[in-house]
Amino acid sequence: MTDHHHEEAVEALLHENRRFAPSADFVATANVGPNVYAEAAADPEAWWAEQARTLEWATPFTSVLEWEPPFARWFSDGTLNASVNCLDRHVAAGRGEKVALHWVGEPEGEAADITYAELLERTCRAANALESLGVEAGDRVVIYMPMIPEAIVAMLACARIGAPHSVIFGGFSAEALADRITDADAQVIITADGGFRRGVASGLKVEVDAALTLCPAVTTSLVVRRTGQEVGWVEGRDLWWHDVVDPAAPTHEPKAFAAEHPLYIMYTSGTTAKPKGIFHTTGGYLTHTSTTHRLVFDIKPETDICWTSADIGWVTGHSYIVYGPLANGVTQVMYEGTPDAGGKDRWWRIIEDYKVTILYTAPTAIRTFMKWGAEFPAGHDLSSLRLLGSVGEPINPEAWMWYRKHIGGGRCPIVDTWWQTETGGIMITPLPGVTATKPGAAMVPFPGISAEIVDNDGDPVPDGHGGLLVITRPWPGMLRGIWGDPERYADTYWSKFDGMYFAGDGAKRDDDGDMWLLGRVDDVMNVSGHRLSTAEVEHALVGHPAVAEAAVVGAHDQITGQAIVAFVTLTASSELHGADDREIIASIRAHVAEAISPIAKPRQVILTPELPKTRSGKIMRRLLRDIAEHRALGDVTTLTDPTVVNMIDGLMAVHAEDD
Ligand code: WT7
Repeated sequence: MTDHHHEEAVEALLHENRRFAPSADFVATANVGPNVYAEAAADPEAWWAEQARTLEWATPFTSVLEWEPPFARWFSDGTLNASVNCLDRHVAAGRGEKVALHWVGEPEGEAADITYAELLERTCRAANALESLGVEAGDRVVIYMPMIPEAIVAMLACARIGAPHSVIFGGFSAEALADRITDADAQVIITADGGFRRGVASGLKVEVDAALTLCPAVTTSLVVRRTGQEVGWVEGRDLWWHDVVDPAAPTHEPKAFAAEHPLYIMYTSGTTAKPKGIFHTTGGYLTHTSTTHRLVFDIKPETDICWTSADIGWVTGHSYIVYGPLANGVTQVMYEGTPDAGGKDRWWRIIEDYKVTILYTAPTAIRTFMKWGAEFPAGHDLSSLRLLGSVGEPINPEAWMWYRKHIGGGRCPIVDTWWQTETGGIMITPLPGVTATKPGAAMVPFPGISAEIVDNDGDPVPDGHGGLLVITRPWPGMLRGIWGDPERYADTYWSKFDGMYFAGDGAKRDDDGDMWLLGRVDDVMNVSGHRLSTAEVEHALVGHPAVAEAAVVGAHDQITGQAIVAFVTLTASSELHGADDREIIASIRAHVAEAISPIAKPRQVILTPELPKTRSGKIMRRLLRDIAEHRALGDVTTLTDPTVVNMIDGLMAVHAEDD
């Protein structure tokens, strides 16, 4: 089920065997040398313990790992506070005046520099405010916000008082938000009136209001004023941030929590329609994110200006905007808006203005910039950049080379980092100054991480053969479970192979033993780096009154990596009414955006009188994917009615839809 286009590209590259050795500069100054791998491999637990000791512990740990598969506990008798590690200790060390965030608003000219001392003070006020609202350690708090500093303040305030946060991406609809609030059983939500995207003020509070009609357990919504738009107001439930947080006391005595105290829940798509609440705990996660941030990006805290372009609502924002970088005390850029707001050179202007040294982004963004043209970055001085990162999906070699040349000026190493919401932090990646990189390859497991590529029986496959990626030892940042569903946790990740974590990705090692990721092997799609399940979109589709049956596949797309293609049969009544196909398709697409998010809107909806099924009644997704990608059709012998396929193939041309 992996991406055919990508596999073909990988094949071509393996023949080329192009590689880029680290530059002498990097070799001389890198945070680690090549022996880090052997050191970590000799005793991974001891190596991770050494990394963990770079954090500030209230009670030092003596136990490193307790492993009762599939449940791991790291540093379990240690106690610490995540917000102290991200803020207080830097201020205490005399770095309070250092800028933590160069925040750049989407409207031109709107920006703010926030120091570590200020971020601490704002976090303390928010922590005091949350406590005054009755939030206690262990209570879940949902955060649904735009990319503004208050989002980080809210997360760190929750961490400070031991209340696990669950940040929901601001692009999710009211319905999706309600599902997640209910699953997390949260009583408090922090949000904003809205945010700026593409020059317009979009509404967030309005979605919250709709969601909360379905979530009677929520007692409080705390609202940041960002856009100034009119909002609905429920007395007794809704409170303005500036009325509650701003006047709260500026200091807050932090409590220490057990290393295994839950830090947050992050919802992500699995292979069923119900999203999974991946939960992470404190000590191991902070160890993993700060260590990978320091070594993968070769962080020099005194001089680096880091920019991770992800939204705070995804795990990349959690690990490489909030916890990793702030634990390491670096200065970051945080940008609110879209890449083309104020011109297609907005990012490059930001890099020039703030002298960004490290940029971490997604292949889909790089491909978009390629499409816009090299003249946009060329018009700016990007010479401050010294390292580039990629994450979220396999990066195609063309995009890798373009990134290297037009953004990195041919001198910046590129780290292609493979990881997942579940892994908490980076797992497979080059190390700058150590690894000779290959365009399109994530290369090797990070020190202290053990990964393998196996066949369906769990046996390692020889180099040069494709297989399934597994992680063979527990790691500090690993998910500790699926919120409220330990069985699903064991089932999804640990039941396919004994004692090994099943990632859901296909991978292959080349003759040098370097790893190439090949895409998902399950029914999870990757659209612009956003993870969506086919079942989730199908569930939304059949919720439309005109839809009888639906099957969804992820098809290759030039820009977004994969795109959603939906095959839909209509109910008899809707067919009888003879409504116009185009109208029905538009209404179906809008319905999916409404039920999940605009990111889940199918690129194409193909109306078909029937779906191809096997004799046992299973929808033949592989075939649909072949059709969606215009490939010669594979084996159709088990199909009940092969003519269905030819018919759909014919329909494809008619109903190609574009935004
Ligand atoms: C899935 C995880 C990791 C944070 C953002 C996405 C794909 C991620 C890469 C990469 C190839 C990648 C995998 C993975 N993926 N990074 N460098 N090369 N594939 O987190 O939403 O949990 O998605 O993204 O398929 O399983 P996520």
